[in-house]
Amino acid sequence: MAIKRRKFLFTSALSAILSVAVAACAGGGGTADSGARRLVMATSADYPPYQFVDSSGGTQEIVGFDIEIAQHITGELGYELEIQNIDFNSLIPALQANRADFVMAGMTPTEERQQNVDFSQIYYEARNTIVSRQGSGLTTPESLAGKSVGVQLGSTQEQAARDLEGLDIKPLNRINEMIQELKAGRIEAIIMEDTVAAGFLASNPDLEAHDIPNMGEAGSAIAFPRGSELREEFNPVLQEMIDSGMMDELVTKWFGDDSPAADELAN
Ligand code: ARG
Repeated sequence: MAIKRRKFLFTSALSAILSVAVAACAGGGGTADSGARRLVMATSADYPPYQFVDSSGGTQEIVGFDIEIAQHITGELGYELEIQNIDFNSLIPALQANRADFVMAGMTPTEERQQNVDFSQIYYEARNTIVSRQGSGLTTPESLAGKSVGVQLGSTQEQAARDLEGLDIKPLNRINEMIQELKAGRIEAIIMEDTVAAGFLASNPDLEAHDIPNMGEAGSAIAFPRGSELREEFNPVLQEMIDSGMMDELVTKWFGDDSPAADELAN
């Protein structure tokens, strides 16, 4: 009898410890001092003006259009926000492993990704464009045949490049790497989004861009682990940002001529 009772005490002590541990790990976040649950957002901060590392002022803060949207939504819902900067290709795996509560990374809700994660509505549109050195003549998808073309690993642009056939595709992890490879002549073109190309072009007069009409899926949405309840919480706040005109203001701020991203790119 005594032995049985001790075992019972041991098991309930153990399960108490376990439930504390589980609470601390829930959602990859946990509870911060304020008592608000902290959500972990994963991103690839190589994508100005959506998200990039602001090195002005000596800090290495991640800022941008997506970041402001994330701060607004999590703030409205009473969450704290933690941002993790990882390679684009690792973002979906991070959601699948529940290492992140959501992803904002200028990410397009493709059919293929929808097999693995859930998406909010689209909050911003973009198109694919060919970036090359001035005077290269690489202005159409056909002109890329036989050329070495940089694309971000795991991006919709990588898929678009594969659909074209006959390209010598060079998948790279980070957008600035691709720009450096192009400027150094190690690749001949990049397929990337017009919204991001614009900033790099403004600070690199040796490059030019040509939009590719109707190529592949486009636009940005917030990604969540499959079945996450956060999507239902986030969507109305996102809709409210669109309806109230706040989204338009953020678009003007980050994609307009005086974008805070311009300074960073000029460095
Ligand atoms: N929209 C494209 C995609 O979803 C490219 C996004 C790249 N984002 C980034 N943070 N590098 O595949």
